[in-house]
Amino acid sequence: MSWFTRAVLLATHNPVSRRLFTGTRAGRALAHRFVAGDTLDDGIAAARRLAEAGMLTSLDLLGEEVTDRPSALDARDEYREVLDRLAETSLSANISIKLTQLGLAIDEEMARQAVDELAVRAAEVGTTVTIDMEDSRFTAATVEIFADAQARHGNLGIALQAYLHRTPDDLERLIPLGGHIRLCKGAYAEPPEIALQTRAEVTAAFSSLLEILMEAEETRPAIATHDETLIEQTRELARRRRGGFEFQMLYGVRPELQRRLRDEGYDLRIYVPFGSQWYPYLTRRLAERPANLVFFARSLVGRDRAGSV
Ligand code: FDA
Repeated sequence: MSWFTRAVLLATHNPVSRRLFTGTRAGRALAHRFVAGDTLDDGIAAARRLAEAGMLTSLDLLGEEVTDRPSALDARDEYREVLDRLAETSLSANISIKLTQLGLAIDEEMARQAVDELAVRAAEVGTTVTIDMEDSRFTAATVEIFADAQARHGNLGIALQAYLHRTPDDLERLIPLGGHIRLCKGAYAEPPEIALQTRAEVTAAFSSLLEILMEAEETRPAIATHDETLIEQTRELARRRRGGFEFQMLYGVRPELQRRLRDEGYDLRIYVPFGSQWYPYLTRRLAERPANLVFFARSLVGRDRAGSV
């Protein structure tokens, strides 16, 4: 992770920065580039537009690091509602969940139960559940909860972060469990004891994990990146792959590249976040690309139309 990324993630953590984004038109306009809207209807409408454009989707109800039980239970219920809505549509969509939104930081058992319930409902609806990977305080518990739930329900997936030193071991352990594995670079500020620090190191780690994942037949690889070098490597590895796989990208990020992959005939799933708790998600998207912050600064001082970011 570059010094810039780390600095942005740290700077955006304080309440003044939060207000600068959540309390200004420019901040909300920037969020709308990466977030489908505040409501489930907005999320479903975006998923429908993407389906019409030939893309799969994963719906993500925004929210994380929940610290009280009622909010965690609300999040579980809202996800049930997402699945109920999917049952009424013919959308090829699944859900992406964050375990701290379902209570992992308060009580591991509570998150485990929520995953069970959502996996059961998702199976009834004929879809799957992907567990996002959050910061390293939660990695071990997230891996355990995934392994346990996948063994019992069989319709889960998990995100693994290439930057973590532990990921090669996790990958080896989780491939035989089936389901799907989403490989991403990793979006949180982590210390050197835990994660690789430079962009080059992270890309190299992604590249070697990618080779292993694309050779695995037991699992469905989900290659989550907008990095063209890694996408090209995936195209090459796909030539000798027998099973299926998919590319995954974030809503609002490199839409032209998304269309290109779709036109080439690959399965492409777009991660569609919706909900009012968009600030932490936005900070990670800002940290990934300095230009996003420049756009924001310009629109804040009125040099750009707020809607143009
Ligand atoms: P990289 O950051 O090198 O970007 C490659 C190019 O893509 C950039 O040069 C730029 O053009 C464009 N780009 C990338 N990010 C952009 C942005 N925010 N705005 C504009 N352009 C941008 N992380 C995590 O820790 N846990 C998780 O569960 C997930 N889940 C997840 C799901 C999906 C579907 C995706 C695509 C990503 C994640 N991530 C994630 C985020 C991931 O770890 C990583 O931070 C981002 O994908 C950015 O890394 P890239 O691989 O795209 O490369």
